[in-house]
Amino acid sequence: MTSSGAFPATRMRRLRAASWRRRLVRETVLSPDDLIQPLFIIEGTGVRQPVASLPGVARLSIDTAVETAREAAALGIPALALFPVIDPSLKNDQGSEATNPKNLLCRAIAAIKKAVPDIGIICDVALDPYTTHGHDGLFDGDDVANDATVAVLVKQALVLAEAGCDVVAPSDMMDGRIGAIRTALESHGFTNTMILSYAVKYASAFYGPFRDAVGSKGALGAKGKHTYQMDAANADEALREAALDVAEGADLIMVKPGMPYLDVVAAVKAHINVPVVVYQVSGEYAMLSLAAANGLLDRTAAFHEALLAFKRAGASAIFTYAAMEVARTLAGKA
Ligand code: PBG
Repeated sequence: MTSSGAFPATRMRRLRAASWRRRLVRETVLSPDDLIQPLFIIEGTGVRQPVASLPGVARLSIDTAVETAREAAALGIPALALFPVIDPSLKNDQGSEATNPKNLLCRAIAAIKKAVPDIGIICDVALDPYTTHGHDGLFDGDDVANDATVAVLVKQALVLAEAGCDVVAPSDMMDGRIGAIRTALESHGFTNTMILSYAVKYASAFYGPFRDAVGSKGALGAKGKHTYQMDAANADEALREAALDVAEGADLIMVKPGMPYLDVVAAVKAHINVPVVVYQVSGEYAMLSLAAANGLLDRTAAFHEALLAFKRAGASAIFTYAAMEVARTLAGKA
């Protein structure tokens, strides 16, 4: 027998022959520490309103969200991502409710921070929940105007930081917004507020159920968000986007969606020396949920495998609508 490593000196199955052997050599571990739970916030009290397109996900009033935040903290989830569902009567083409310091989101941040101070709060910086047209910025002619939008996003980020948001997460894909937001945060004393840049956000068909959940779908039209979100065909561009945002002051870089873009997650991790966050978006969650509900997949195993794949690709943290559910199964509590 040679020591060349060829069969039978090497039998790969020796490493897999028992649970203890597999556990011993496992390269990647999934833990509640990796998971960020998104919550949809709506006006009212005692509300838990199911989202039809996201089985198991509900829109929560602030009091119900506070309860949920307590549960999430007890499960070891480090942070929540809050998304407001704005009453249509408060929407306009400027999205002006976004910069109202007493808006739904700001009240939710303050209530959760007060009741559960140790859980991190992450909020999108973008105008789409607040605009009648459902786009992330202000229009000039027939397209979203970059620089005018950035000026409003800066105000929105300051209002969120003032309310107690720990991590502002620009998800709008305007150019130059990270630098502008960082400068404003520093000059207003928010030196410890993190910026999670949705630097690598693709114009994706997988956001459909989210737009249904926040009610931003209606007016988008066929054009979609292709003039500002990235083209699905591009990966080199992801590295340029990420590098620019790091240079402008981003603390964390998001790649979104997750599962169809694992190559991009791995490339960003390899090239950019900043923690990478992945978003298992609404369409991914819906696909897995509906397949499981129809008996085609084992729900727990499928979610675990999908999230583990993000970790293997290089993610430091994962946005998933299944965060609390998965944390429970990891703790053997489900
Ligand atoms: C808004 C935003 C979107 C998502 C997160 N923030 C939708 C969009 O850009 O249209 C999608 C999240 C999901 O699909 O789960 N800027």
